[in-house]
Amino acid sequence: MSSARPFNFSAGPATMPLEVLLRAGSEIANWHDTGMGVMEMSHRGAAFGDILARTLADIRDVLAVPTHFHIVFMQGGGLAHNAIVPMNLLGKPRTAGTPKADFIVSGSWSHKSSVEAKRYADAHVAFSGKADGFTTVANANAWHLRSDTDYVHLCSNETIDGIEFHTLPDLAALGVDAPLVVDCSSHVASRPMEWHKIGVAFAGAQKNLGPAGVTLAFVREDLCDQAMSICPSAFEYKGVAANNSMFNTPPTNAIYMVGLVFEWLKAQGGLQAIEANNIAKAALLYDAIDASGLYSNHIDTPWRSRMNVPFKLANASLNDAFLAQAKDAGLLQLKGHKSVGGMRASIYNAMPLAGVQALVDFMHHFERTHA
Ligand SMILES: Cc1ncc(COP(=O)(O)O)c(C=O)c1O
Repeated sequence: MSSARPFNFSAGPATMPLEVLLRAGSEIANWHDTGMGVMEMSHRGAAFGDILARTLADIRDVLAVPTHFHIVFMQGGGLAHNAIVPMNLLGKPRTAGTPKADFIVSGSWSHKSSVEAKRYADAHVAFSGKADGFTTVANANAWHLRSDTDYVHLCSNETIDGIEFHTLPDLAALGVDAPLVVDCSSHVASRPMEWHKIGVAFAGAQKNLGPAGVTLAFVREDLCDQAMSICPSAFEYKGVAANNSMFNTPPTNAIYMVGLVFEWLKAQGGLQAIEANNIAKAALLYDAIDASGLYSNHIDTPWRSRMNVPFKLANASLNDAFLAQAKDAGLLQLKGHKSVGGMRASIYNAMPLAGVQALVDFMHHFERTHA
């Protein structure tokens, strides 16, 4: 293991645990003496069958997924899910007329979801943080949810804006008898999931779970029978679940890599240990930002993301120097999303505390030399 490897703060595709990369590398041409790499095996064969079964079992175990949820591997990423969800949930609307979907717009990704859903539903924005520049989320009691909506969608960690739900709303307690759909792409497996509040959760793999190209979806069993007739078969939860994620050829190598990441998560001590590490990493970085005169993060403190930390320099003309010197110091991909500007440090599960410490040390040094 090379200590000279830089720390990579990309928002996704993102850094992977080095142990996982090395293991995949060692198995790339010959998985477990089969004489084949995973990319070369039939998805219907025994070897891939073992990989898939073990991966699903580890996901269920590590994330404590209840038995009444299907775990399915899908394709098309998070954005395809903005269509897959309405097509799967709106075939049997509760009231006559156009089906309804309510959205909590807390940042760029939930906004995109609400726009896409308009193709399938009467999509209603029950809360938008846009006027506040996506820096906070109002108390759930102030959201304008419709009691007869067919589902409510939120993004539990807004990757671009850096806003995280540290607890999910309880729709039943808010008087809404509809499933909650959660885009948890950028913080899945970083903390325990509140399954009792969730109907459907989905996550593109490329942040916390593995390489791009596979999406993990968790679907409550009773929601598997409500698809619209226009839903493509390859995107219908019911058929994909019934075929154990092999309705069509699944992204086998990406699934294998997700399996290695879950093995790694287990070896780290599971979700409790990983969450404790994530809390420590986020505290280290936010404390450094808050104590500084050069850096700032404007997210309302209770809503700050543990995974994606956007920050700005007081003098934006220093941005290029910051990025160039950070790169020289072995700190990669810190440039903020173009819609927000400034910097963003994504500190997913695979980012060690030492990486955040190296970033904080660099930020102190940069501030001292550019004050
Ligand atoms: C929270 C969230 N949702 C959805 C997406 C879109 O995912 P994809 O590019 O896999 O479609 C992203 C991508 O970064 C994301 O961060």
